[in-house]
Amino acid sequence: MANKGLNKYIHPRNPYKIPPDIQELVKECSELEKYAVIISDGKMMIDFKNPEALRLYTQALLKKDFGLIVDLPTDRLVPTLTLRLNYILWIEDLLNLLMTKDNKQVKGIDIGCGASCIYPLLGSKMNGWKFVATENDDKSIKFCKENIRNNSLCSLITVIPVEGNAILRDVVKDNFHFCMCNPPFFSSLDEAEGKQKIKQRSNTVNTANDNEMVTDGGEIEFVRKIIEDSVHLKDKIKLYTTMLGKKVSVKVIKHLLKENDVTNIATTEFCQGKTMRWGIAWSFLDDLDLKKAAFVKQDSKPTFKLTIPNTVTPYSKLGAAFVLKKLLMELSIDCQERKTRKRWFEITAKENTWIHQRRQRREKQRQRETSLENPSVQSCKRPHDADTSESPDKKLKMSDDDSIALEAKLVLQKSDEIITLEMYFVSGHLGRSGLYQLFQYLANKLK
Ligand SMILES: C[S@@+](CC[C@H](N)C(=O)[O-])C[C@H]1O[C@@H](n2cnc3c(N)ncnc32)[C@H](O)[C@@H]1O
Repeated sequence: MANKGLNKYIHPRNPYKIPPDIQELVKECSELEKYAVIISDGKMMIDFKNPEALRLYTQALLKKDFGLIVDLPTDRLVPTLTLRLNYILWIEDLLNLLMTKDNKQVKGIDIGCGASCIYPLLGSKMNGWKFVATENDDKSIKFCKENIRNNSLCSLITVIPVEGNAILRDVVKDNFHFCMCNPPFFSSLDEAEGKQKIKQRSNTVNTANDNEMVTDGGEIEFVRKIIEDSVHLKDKIKLYTTMLGKKVSVKVIKHLLKENDVTNIATTEFCQGKTMRWGIAWSFLDDLDLKKAAFVKQDSKPTFKLTIPNTVTPYSKLGAAFVLKKLLMELSIDCQERKTRKRWFEITAKENTWIHQRRQRREKQRQRETSLENPSVQSCKRPHDADTSESPDKKLKMSDDDSIALEAKLVLQKSDEIITLEMYFVSGHLGRSGLYQLFQYLANKLK
């Protein structure tokens, strides 16, 4: 189920971080046997490109691991479970902040629940959450209602059929803790078909029908309407969230939110096999800082790890935090200290000041060397400095849309009396190499 390379992006609590044992599953669902093959190392595999095999496999997992009996029509989307669980688990993380203030029964809305009704079924079964599930496709409505009934979840899940393109405003009568959505991604069938051709290397077959994949204006237009409704509904829903199918949409949606004066935003990545999806959340609550909840360790390993030398005094996390904050301040990097379970920092840089400093330092060093060799020469600027392979002057030009150079999470850890700084890349146009340069800069400064 999970491709090893991207496994690290699967949510830490996702049970499918360790792929399911197919041999065990086949024992419980004999119909699966005819789609199973033994591969070279003696392990059993399922052909996920076969729609019937994918359908039976998903149903078998839902039954075995969640006690859910789910009927999935052959002409509708078969929900891939690792991705769906990643989204539910992220909502759990975000709700954790709210729950300290409010112990009421959690109520959520799933916009476009599909025939499977996967999010409400999992959310209510795993966490006892109440759901309003909306859908505008008659066949899906029929199936999702049956799935709710067959699992005796009618007291927790209510289906609301919606007309045409209505999204939230007509549905929300009460207050809700959150809303979630896996929107149709594409703006036209041509776009969807083109993407399918490109994705033929993907591990799983796509069984979705047109309404599930395509909406006027694609996912951006769909989410734009959710934003519009959210601006109207404000904190009647405490937490607005949606999944996005294209990385480029994350930037556009963030921009749309900012245009609507919404700044309390968190984003994340979901992964299953070779498929990546993105999550975005926003809120109008003054006392809910989504950034605090957003630190879900995406990588099981940090992007870079720095051992704090024992020349830092006092040699403690507090001492290291003090030195770190000072260095970041010198670099004009915004540093927000968060003290949840760990001592960690959220840093945001508008430009690459650390390469600039490194360059200046090397320039000074070079000048010193040159003046020693030839005392009459005070300054000798080379047109192509060897250290400008990163070419800061060129690379650091930022467009208005792309104003964040680097966003990262830094976590101080202490183990066996050794203090380390774990550095996690979050986003920014400098990419992981920008974080690597900062790692090198800090390592040099702390020597
Ligand atoms: C990508 S599918 C997601 C289905 C399911 N939530 C899942 O994750 O497997 C999108 C769903 O949204 C439904 N849909 C499209 N427009 C809608 C609208 N305006 N309101 C509610 N549902 C809508 C589609 O019929 C489809 O079932």
